[in-house]
Amino acid sequence: MPPLSRPTFVKTTSVDDLNEKLGAYLFAESQSAIQAHGKFVFATSGGSLPKAFVSSLTWAVTAGLDLRTDLWHVFYADERHVPLDDPESNHAATLEGLRAAPWWKATLHPINPTLALEACAAAYQAEVEGCVTRGVFDLVLLGMGPDGHTASLFPGHPLLLHPTPGVVAISDSPKPPPCRVTLTLPTINASRAVAFVALGEGKAQKLAAIAAGGPAALAIPSALVRQEGGGATWFLDTGSASLLPR
Ligand code: 6PG
Repeated sequence: MPPLSRPTFVKTTSVDDLNEKLGAYLFAESQSAIQAHGKFVFATSGGSLPKAFVSSLTWAVTAGLDLRTDLWHVFYADERHVPLDDPESNHAATLEGLRAAPWWKATLHPINPTLALEACAAAYQAEVEGCVTRGVFDLVLLGMGPDGHTASLFPGHPLLLHPTPGVVAISDSPKPPPCRVTLTLPTINASRAVAFVALGEGKAQKLAAIAAGGPAALAIPSALVRQEGGGATWFLDTGSASLLPR
């Protein structure tokens, strides 16, 4: 197992501070990708991320940054295998957040949940491969659960060891709903950039273990992200950063 690369922690002190720092980061990553290959292709996650993602982009637009979202393609790092209008759908949560965003011109790439789970994962993998440049995302934007999971990669789950890039199915997710599709670690780690948004006291213990590194961190799925390709950037708040060294 290669040594874990050092993460970069961005500690924010308020929602406005998070919006500004995450918004500036997303703008910079989008500009870099558009300059490099004419579009920005990234994957985002569910949970609290849709709200944070839309709020930070709203800050960027309000700050006068030209996001060029018409050149953006947005996939899901993981998605629940439910109808797209189901309250559990990450796509539904993202669309809900974007209802008040007239500036949003990006192409969202939802899964096709009418396909059986395995076929849905395979079809999504083909859609990703048809859109990314040189086989990699420009950015993967992740959350972390209190157990250290990220996307739908859970502690001790065999999918953590899936050796190849792609989109795979999981039918026993410990976080409901049980059936999902998820990017594999090789796909996440091949991305040009990876960032986490991890907020609240509930994440503090796992973050402290990730920051400390060492054998304990190897059991935390989120710690396995970007171990070869350089560290991930973590956007934190006072709660999630509360156990990190000052
Ligand atoms: C999902 C998410 C999941 C999420 C974490 C953190 O679809 O369930 O992608 O991986 O990012 O569970 O969720 P919170 O940010 O809401 O704590």
